[in-house]
Amino acid sequence: MSKKSIGTTFFEDSRINEAKQLLVDAVKEHSSKITKVKPADPELKQSYEQILEEFGSNRGGKLFYNYIGSGIGNGSLVELADGSVKYDFITGIGVHYFGHSHPGVIAAQIDGAITNTTMSGNLQQNIDSPKLFKLILDQANKNGGGFDHMFMTSSGVMAAENALKMAFQKKHPASRVLAFEGCFMGRTMAVAAITDKHVYRDGLPKTLDVDYLPFYDSNDHEGSIKKVVDKLEECFKRYPGQYAAMCMELIQGEGGYWVGHKDFFMAIIDICKKNNVSVIVDEVQTFMRTKELFAFQYFELDKHVDLVNIGKNSQICATIYRADHKPRPGLISQTFTSSGSAINAAYYIINEVANNGYLGEDGKIEKTHKYFSSKLEELSKKLPQKIEGPWGMGAMVGMTLFKGDLAKSKEFTFKLFENGVLSFIAGGNPFTRVRFLVPMGAITNTDIDNVINIIEKTLGEID
Ligand SMILES: Cc1ncc(COP(=O)(O)O)c(C=O)c1O
Repeated sequence: MSKKSIGTTFFEDSRINEAKQLLVDAVKEHSSKITKVKPADPELKQSYEQILEEFGSNRGGKLFYNYIGSGIGNGSLVELADGSVKYDFITGIGVHYFGHSHPGVIAAQIDGAITNTTMSGNLQQNIDSPKLFKLILDQANKNGGGFDHMFMTSSGVMAAENALKMAFQKKHPASRVLAFEGCFMGRTMAVAAITDKHVYRDGLPKTLDVDYLPFYDSNDHEGSIKKVVDKLEECFKRYPGQYAAMCMELIQGEGGYWVGHKDFFMAIIDICKKNNVSVIVDEVQTFMRTKELFAFQYFELDKHVDLVNIGKNSQICATIYRADHKPRPGLISQTFTSSGSAINAAYYIINEVANNGYLGEDGKIEKTHKYFSSKLEELSKKLPQKIEGPWGMGAMVGMTLFKGDLAKSKEFTFKLFENGVLSFIAGGNPFTRVRFLVPMGAITNTDIDNVINIIEKTLGEID
């Protein structure tokens, strides 16, 4: 028999497995009582409102929705602390990919929770980190990607910061960045300079020089490629040798669910390569949302991108990169990178999606998209003045309401919340969209039918 660490024998202890099963069974039993949308319990309402008010004051601003979870849900449904039950079709803006109280995720989290520390960090990581790194890199290289390394971090924007640092160090002293109009990359001092929304950098000093390129227009395939190539060439002529990176979302998320095209991206990448500019793909929102695990795989850009940022659905955040972008010692590090529970949940979720019927033409992601989209399309035919679309791809589904009016779209999301469905806004005037980031691991067609009925009812409440 080969030698085992005490840790290995600890995790093999039958008491651990029995206790875990007991906990998972208890979760299942309580969770199964959550079966449908429900209004708040009148007896819990007052204390809930007090909590909301105190929390809002402590955090320095009201919550977007009056949402404080009770700590349990059932699949696509979540219970709030006031006893109400809602469909969660936004999943914390794209995080709770397997929905609420999923037994497999709970079991994985327990494995992480009973390890010796709460957090893993750059200096000390447990045996679960190497396993996760291998899974993600193997998947990124599935179609010959050729990525060598991955660096885990604590948020999507930190993955972006790290990618930018690697690109800048490689191209020193270049100081400029290229990005798409309407892009969202996060909100650190550096990255807020790239995210194309002025309110996110209101009052901040300038940290980076950014030049913006128009995004792909599916109504003008050739024209939009020509436009972007012309703009790129103009930039390289004006600032020769000064660009370090091109930052791209392949499907714009916060910007309004605009989907790009392989030809468009390749036209940009070819020019970037000629000018020795690193290509950073931001998959913080798109990871596990197309019918391929990575959107760069869907658009067949495997061999052409240099750095890829993931987050949200992946439960941990990371930058995946090639050896020629390897930073010199000291450039990137972090005290803690993630919790043991998140690392274990990440492994469980990514492994399920990669290997258990989610990907490809017949996978759950594509089937769910088709079903949800067809139902929204039916609704748009019924109520053409109120709803257009749907837009997006895979697990990103959006619609335009009231011709894209921001105030009315917001009013809709608040009413929809009251009626029992969580959604969110993307884009802005005059192209506001209402979007859904669905709990792919949990969602059923019945959930979609019920949500469609609630959407229709809510549209009927707004003129
Ligand atoms: C495309 C994209 N990049 C980066 C981020 C930033 O991620 P985080 O909020 O985890 O820092 C987001 C967050 O919404 C995003 O959608």
